[in-house]
Amino acid sequence: MEDHSAVVAARTRELDEATRAAVIQVCIAAHDEPDFQRLFSFLPPDGLHVLGYSQSQLASHAVVTTRWLQPAGQPLLKTAYVDAVATDPAFQGRGFGSLVMRHLAWLVRDEYDIACLETERVTFYERLGWQEWRGPLAGRAERGLVPTPEQTGIMILRLPRTPELDWESLLTIECQPERIW
Ligand SMILES: CC(C)(COP(=O)(O)OP(=O)(O)OC[C@H]1O[C@@H](n2cnc3c(N)ncnc32)[C@H](O)[C@@H]1OP(=O)(O)O)[C@@H](O)C(=O)NCCC(=O)NCCS
Repeated sequence: MEDHSAVVAARTRELDEATRAAVIQVCIAAHDEPDFQRLFSFLPPDGLHVLGYSQSQLASHAVVTTRWLQPAGQPLLKTAYVDAVATDPAFQGRGFGSLVMRHLAWLVRDEYDIACLETERVTFYERLGWQEWRGPLAGRAERGLVPTPEQTGIMILRLPRTPELDWESLLTIECQPERIW
């Protein structure tokens, strides 16, 4: 890492307008996805942002919200669900994303039972200790289970409170208004 890098954490409600704009800009630049313009309309006030800086410039970001995974036969698990992982293209490959994700894992280890994210970059997270779920996946809705057989790249990070997991079993998550995973 560079000498002038730093990582800080803040709740969504604590982020000022300039920081919100910087987060959106980094997400759009990294993912080439204009929908991130609406990121803050999806986040609760207690979203937990991890922000990686190079000097005073935002280089990398991730945000945690609380969701509820349930592996078959297990109780609901309080889940640190990670979204909007992004490093500004100008800073990619310099360790900022790894720094942010390691700090995030440390921040959530006592408050949550497990961590989860959805990605197309499985190997990046495997290097950081995450493991891809191998079993079937589904959303839990009021009307019952909504299977998501096309879904890939659901990754889990075990935390100190994570129970024994059968990685081949059915894993479900509560359906949200605009998405399942
Ligand atoms: C995926 C992403 C978040 C990684 O962020 P990053 O800041 O580039 O991450 P790092 O620099 O820590 O690591 C990236 C790679 O550079 C390597 N690297 C890290 N520091 C390095 C260094 N000092 N010298 C050389 N290589 C280094 C890492 O080993 C890693 O390799 P890997 O991907 O094969 O595991 C970022 O590339 C990104 O925003 N991509 C676009 C969006 C995306 O795909 N998001 C994830 C899907 S949800």
